[in-house]
Amino acid sequence: METHEISRRFTDHFVHAGHTRVPSASLILDDPTLLFVNAGMVQFKPYFLGDAPPPYPRATSIQKCVRTGDIDEVGKTTRHNTFFQMAGNFSFGDYFKAGAIEHAWNLVTGSQDAGGYGFDPDRIWVTVYETDDEAIRLWQQIAGLPQERIQRRDGKDNYWDMGVPGPGGPCSEIYYDRGPEHGRDGGPVVDEDRYLEIWNLVFMQDIRGPQSPKYGYPPIGELPNKNIDTGMGIERVAYLLQGVANVYETDLVRPVIARAEELSGRRYGADHEDDVRFRVIADHARSGVMIIGDGVTPSNEARGYVLRRLLRRIVRSARLLGVHEPVLGAFAEVVRDEMAPSYPELATGFERISAVMRAEEEAFLQTLTSGSRIFDLAVERTKKAGGTQLPGDQAFALHDTYGFPIDLTLEMAGEAGLSVDGDGFRTLMNEQRNRAKADAAARKVGHTDASVFRAVLDMHGVTDFLGYTTLSAEATVVGLLVDDQSVAAASEGSVVQVVLDRTPFYAEAGGQQADTGVLRGGDFTVRIDDVQSPVAGLRVHRGVVTAGTVTLDASVVAEVDKGRRAAISRAHTATHLVHAGVRNALGTSAAQAGSLNAPGRLRFDFTSPTGAVAPAALSDIEDEVNTVLQENREVEAYETSMDEARKLGAMMLFGEKYGDRVRVVDMGEYSRELCGGTHVARTGELGLVKVLSEASIGSGVRRVDALVGLDAFQYMSKEHLLVSQLADQLKSRPEDLPDRISGLVERLRNAERDLEKHREEAVLASAGALAAGAEDIDGVLLVAAAAPDGVPGNDLRALASDVRGRLGTRPGVVALFSSAGDKLSFVVATTEAARRDGLAAGKLVPSFAAAIGGRGGGKAELAQGGGTNPAGVPQAVTALRAALRDGGAAAGARASG
Ligand code: SER
Repeated sequence: METHEISRRFTDHFVHAGHTRVPSASLILDDPTLLFVNAGMVQFKPYFLGDAPPPYPRATSIQKCVRTGDIDEVGKTTRHNTFFQMAGNFSFGDYFKAGAIEHAWNLVTGSQDAGGYGFDPDRIWVTVYETDDEAIRLWQQIAGLPQERIQRRDGKDNYWDMGVPGPGGPCSEIYYDRGPEHGRDGGPVVDEDRYLEIWNLVFMQDIRGPQSPKYGYPPIGELPNKNIDTGMGIERVAYLLQGVANVYETDLVRPVIARAEELSGRRYGADHEDDVRFRVIADHARSGVMIIGDGVTPSNEARGYVLRRLLRRIVRSARLLGVHEPVLGAFAEVVRDEMAPSYPELATGFERISAVMRAEEEAFLQTLTSGSRIFDLAVERTKKAGGTQLPGDQAFALHDTYGFPIDLTLEMAGEAGLSVDGDGFRTLMNEQRNRAKADAAARKVGHTDASVFRAVLDMHGVTDFLGYTTLSAEATVVGLLVDDQSVAAASEGSVVQVVLDRTPFYAEAGGQQADTGVLRGGDFTVRIDDVQSPVAGLRVHRGVVTAGTVTLDASVVAEVDKGRRAAISRAHTATHLVHAGVRNALGTSAAQAGSLNAPGRLRFDFTSPTGAVAPAALSDIEDEVNTVLQENREVEAYETSMDEARKLGAMMLFGEKYGDRVRVVDMGEYSRELCGGTHVARTGELGLVKVLSEASIGSGVRRVDALVGLDAFQYMSKEHLLVSQLADQLKSRPEDLPDRISGLVERLRNAERDLEKHREEAVLASAGALAAGAEDIDGVLLVAAAAPDGVPGNDLRALASDVRGRLGTRPGVVALFSSAGDKLSFVVATTEAARRDGLAAGKLVPSFAAAIGGRGGGKAELAQGGGTNPAGVPQAVTALRAALRDGGAAAGARASG
């Protein structure tokens, strides 16, 4: 049975049983506890917790999931996927254990002709939580399972939660017995390879605290309702129903292996190590495409780093299969073809996805080339020194300076027969991380443990946001923190975090900066500098108590800084317009990759299918945007269903929203986006949008910076003034300025060239004059003089050498002095004959140094130094003469002796 068919049957089965079909959420949901969505229940978390009323009592979804904890196991086992699809059915206070067991049993064992999966009921085993007698009874009654195929397990296996405070519950897992040829008898408690888990039914009823019931800690409370959360691994069911050897050989994954076989000329199944590489490629290509599809781009942090690692492991594995050409595009195409029937966004967004992949692969191939060279050197050095371990600092330098991922270093070191000093590497990494953390802490307060906020949320629910319609509102303080700890009161001067039951303050999100403003109480004031949402649904105001004492439960009037908010809203509306302009100009594959909406300015990042945007195209975009301003279009914001928004063609920003109700911001046909931000009422309010620049920020992503409104006007007015001044000074019309300036620059360059030539000639000429003026001191020619004007210190050496050359084969000494202000430099040079006579330039320096307050030294043929008394040059020359007379006499004596 094909994978798509398995998904289809799952959905049909549950829709038939009264479940609302909910599309998969993005892999990146706004949940600070998760890197990627890793279970079907994530998007329903607020309904389990009672934070939001469930819009339906029953739901079913096929959720895309990424789990990268076992990345090193991929390809080596039969069942580790970094990307997989979790099919689930959910009940929010509707049916419970009996319903969940019945639904699952019917689908798993129902005949294939009747729409089921047709698993042999006699090969099904289940596990239940150790004390869950009720579940045992239900499995016997509903499924007729014999006692011996129901096994009890403790919390480690049969209690499920998200690994963090939140919803949880005992669970019951369904296993399929693959047969005695795959392992030992005795059920899942004995062998989880032979008995393969396919479905987990969670009886979601508890709230877990910091410690989980999984490890014997009691839950900290009960959920408002008894719920059901189940997860069936689509790939595992496919692997069983398709009768293949592992999850990588199922119908949607195997074609990538086939492509890799074509590219490499090697055959899957011929060599164990190659097979692991083939499987790594197949798995990672799928997760890579799915992750980029949801808007992540490769980087060195968090999700971006996981993505980078996946993509680089593909390239690396392909190399090890002997393919040195770029491969990601080819694999991505296969993944698109296989996955698009379930995820059409992969087809529509493919240009963007492949652009991101291409850029990352290019960057990595460069890294590989330069890094491999450094790596080879490090290996050579280690081996030469008789070592067997690559030092940690080398591994760190490869990572830090050359972008070489540590896993790559480990792998390549292994291939070279070396280990890596992992401890040393980790120590250096930690030091670096701590530096970065300290840096971040210094920039922004607020690393509060999310559990404190979670508690506020549990007690008071989400913060009502009033800021779309009002900028001032009465509210109550429901959470108060000082130094990340809950407090009952905070006095003047305290840095506080305040949670209100309702607020007009916008919390930083979707690129829009937070509001600032003030909270006024009866006898206290809190200045608000920042608003964040560390836990979905909660808005936390950060600031300083500037008067009085703020207390928990106090009433306040919360007032947003209106001017700043208006400027931010203008920027946000402008960002939507720039987004639309960019897509009109470059095509729909130019997708938003990030943005910043600050007072008066915006930044818009997007993946560009064609690299840099030509200046002419940029200027067209700017014109188009300003035309829309002039049309003074109405900016409308409204809530609607996700389906309706899709039908309207609204642009979806990755990971921005989930659930069925979404907010659309609409400027007629020109721009329509899902957005939770604040905007102006009509485009005319923006006044003006001025694009300042467009540049690459790496990995195929481009950035546009622009100014909005008065900021744009002031910028242009300043530029205008500047141009007028220049035109004035250059006595030129503004439009002639570029030509005029190129002309001037050209003339200046010529003049400088002439000047240089003259200077060289002058120096040359002075060398002749200087040499001609040499005095004979006891058979030694001495040229000692202040350098002619215009010989800079640097040229002094050249001049001295030139003069020395002119003294020919006779013993000679040249000493030149050059002053600039109260500084003096000097050079002493000797001819070869002089040196033969025992005259060394360096040794002559002390004879005159005192006269010029100087120091210096050097070799026999050339010495140089500096001094602080330019007025002493004549005395220095006299002193040198005297020294030569002594030395000269000696030399003469030697010469005649
Ligand atoms: N949440 C459970 C799991 O991830 C069942 O969906 O296994």
